[in-house]
Order: sequence, then C-alpha cells, then structure tokens
Amino acid sequence: MVNKSTNLEEYIDSFIEDSNLQEVIRSISIACKTISNSVRLAGINDLLGKTGDINVQGEKVEKLDEFANNTLINQLSKSKKVFMMGSEEIESIILPQPENPNGEYVVVFDPLDGSSNIDVSISIGTIFAIYKKINSDPQDVDNLLQKGNQILASGYAVYGSSTVLCLSIINKTSLFTLSGDQEFFLTSENIVHGDSKVYSINESNWNKFTDENKLWVNKLRSEEFGKYTARYVGSLVADFHRNLIKGGVFAYPADPKSGIGRLRLIYECNPLAFIAKQSKGRATDESEDILDIKPTALHQRVGLYIGGEEEINLREKLI
Ligand code: AHG
Ligand code: MN
Ligand code: MN
Repeated sequence: MVNKSTNLEEYIDSFIEDSNLQEVIRSISIACKTISNSVRLAGINDLLGKTGDINVQGEKVEKLDEFANNTLINQLSKSKKVFMMGSEEIESIILPQPENPNGEYVVVFDPLDGSSNIDVSISIGTIFAIYKKINSDPQDVDNLLQKGNQILASGYAVYGSSTVLCLSIINKTSLFTLSGDQEFFLTSENIVHGDSKVYSINESNWNKFTDENKLWVNKLRSEEFGKYTARYVGSLVADFHRNLIKGGVFAYPADPKSGIGRLRLIYECNPLAFIAKQSKGRATDESEDILDIKPTALHQRVGLYIGGEEEINLREKLI
C-alpha cells in the first residue's frame, strides 16, 4: 500500500544505506525538477529551437538539450560525491567542477531523451544510471565503460502530462510524482512490468528488418498470443514508461547490414534495462542480454528489445 505522504527524501533515507549515494540521487532529482520547469515554460522563456551546434552524434543540438545537460553537470558537481560523468551531449569524459578525486560515483545520462518531440509538447525525459568508479584515474574512460549489470541505481524522469521520476535500486522500482510545491511524492512502489499487449516499433524501418524480426512482429500481430496494438511516441523514455506501467515491448532493431543500432548502450539502453530487470521485464540486443554487454565506446549504439518477458522470450525462440 502506497503512503502518498512519503516523499523522495524519506524514501531514499529508508532504502539506501550509503549517504553519498543518497546525495547523488538527490542531486539528480533536483536537476530533473529544474529541467521539468524549463520544459513546461520553454515557449515563454525562449528555450525552444536549436542552439546552432552539432553534437558528437552529428545531431543538431536543441536549446533544451544543452540546458538539461548543463543542469545535470552543475547539480552533480555541487553534490561533491561524483568522480566522473558521461553524457549523450559530450564527446568524452566529463569531470565535475571543481574536480573531485575522492568522489566514488560515476553517473551517465541522456539529459533530454526524445528531442524531436520538444517543439510539439510531446512527452520527453531524462535517463540516468549510477555506478561506483573502478579506479581513480580521471582520464580513464573505463570508468564509463562498465557493464550494465554493475549499475547501483538507475532511473528516468518523464516530463509528460505530469512529471514523474522512476527510481530503481536492486529489486525495487518505485515511481514518484512531482507536486505543485515541487516535491516528488511516492505514487507507486515495487512496480512489476505490466502485461497488456502493446508493441512499440518504428515500422517505417520494416524493409531493413531481418526475416526473424519480421516473423516475430507478424506473430505479435497475428492474434496467436492475443490482440496486440501499436503505440509509438518516438521518445524512448516515454514508450518505455508506458510499457513498464501498462505492459508491452519496445524494439529498435540494429541495421542488419552494419550491425549498428539507433539507441545508445550506456546512457539509454543500460539504465532502462536495469529497471526492466528489477521489475521482472527483460532487455536484449540482437542476441544477448543488454546488461551483459561490455561497452567499447561511450556513444556505442546497439539494437534494443525491451519490455515484457513474454515478448522478448518469444523473439529469442524465433531467432
Ligand atoms: P535523443 O532525443 O536523446 O537523441 O533520442 C532519440 C531516440 C529515442 O528517444 C527514440 O526512441 C528514438 O530516438 C526515435 O527514433 P526514430 O525517430 O528513428 O523512431
Ligand atoms: Mn535519447
Ligand atoms: Mn538526448
């Protein structure tokens, strides 16, 4: 039974022993509040549109991408608990300012996921994961290239019809809702992946799908396993959130010719795969569990199949 008066502060006090890790999560939640407010007022405060820069992904940077990225870096620097950060928007290692050689934690993030939806008021979000550093060398990118199964906590915020923050620690995934007084209150606890029948796939890529993936999607459409319907927001974080709460599977296959996917392993796939696992869902790339992949580069892209166990298991049987 959820006690609606529990706030995020009380929750992390009760379930996370390490006060340094508590502080990292607190800092991320503060950053998410700031980003949420800016998203909601972007049209008024001249925060819509592009900065004119191109990021490491070769994509045009939106003003809100840059704002969200700076907000997270500044807030995590202020926590004085972070050793190193990695972001979708920055090519390489980010060190807090001032540097913090004694910090124990590494944080990776997609500051704003779903950038193409910013200008049209469709749900977007922030995705993050927290690790322990593996060594104290501030130039060693291996601190960022850890397998997802080393994650200590991960989560996301969705700036949608309400602002919610999902936080996953080992065996416990909970959801908080931002109140009018700017406080996150616990609104559901011990979330278990839903079981309604939804598939979320950008089907415009159909002609590039492997025969096995076409067979899988056709099975879902066939009603052999019940009546599936399609839902695709185009913001991974919002598609994942809907499927987590209600049920369903999200897939963004890798291009079979290059073997390269669309979504980024370290700060998009791994944090959500950790949540899926803690809530009895699953996540794989073309052939193995996302959390078992050893990253080779900060911005590495992989195929992603994430959501209900039933759908992911079915695909595995067919390939
Ligand atoms: P980002 O906005 O952080 O660059 O990520 C965009 C991603 C993801 O949110 C979404 O699922 C996917 O791009 C959508 O890609 P398509 O437009 O190819 O469907
Ligand atoms: Mn993204
Ligand atoms: Mn992004």
